[in-house]
Amino acid sequence: MDSSDFLPFLTGRTSIREYTDEPVPVEEIDYVLNCASTAPSAGNLEAWDVVVVTDEDTRLALAEAAFNQLHLEQAPVTLAVCSNYVRSMSRYGERGILYALEDASIACTYMMLAAHARNLQSCWTGAFDDDAVREILDLPQHIRPIALLAIGKGHAPGQLTERRAIGEHVHRETW
Ligand SMILES: Cc1cc2nc3c(=O)[nH]c(=O)nc-3n(C[C@H](O)[C@H](O)[C@H](O)COP(=O)(O)O)c2cc1C
Repeated sequence: MDSSDFLPFLTGRTSIREYTDEPVPVEEIDYVLNCASTAPSAGNLEAWDVVVVTDEDTRLALAEAAFNQLHLEQAPVTLAVCSNYVRSMSRYGERGILYALEDASIACTYMMLAAHARNLQSCWTGAFDDDAVREILDLPQHIRPIALLAIGKGHAPGQLTERRAIGEHVHRETW
């Protein structure tokens, strides 16, 4: 990709909340996962894990745990992206909690963009009942789910969303 293609690539991605039932080939999911493993992480500890969910009953249970969000019911794949606190805290103590959240967020971002690169659609889903997700996926205590990433073939192109003017975010030299 030419560097001038990067911004259009990013602006071409939108969250998609309606999916066809077309399955996602396992090779495509493997590609997405391999891309995530290139993400940076604190101390290169990669304090994240992911549960790949394609089983329909499990996906529907996750959708219910996410307050019945329809896109999780429809998309054929849900990636439950998690922070692994033990991996990070064993070196960094309390600070490791923050690093594990950051590591998992970056890994999830890479997955989302990798899906986009493969012409798949996705929706990052953060609104869910943590305990319900823990129980459905049998997560150990030191694993915290941070996002349910729905992946599949969207029904239609998404709506481009507005962004704040960059000046509202940026402070130069000091706040
Ligand atoms: C941390 C986080 C949590 C989110 N949670 C949800 C969610 O629970 N349900 C949903 O439909 N979209 C969710 N989204 C998607 C955002 O609504 C979406 O990214 C935002 O509106 C910008 O739209 P775009 O992704 O199409 O650019 C979440 C995104 C992030 C980064």
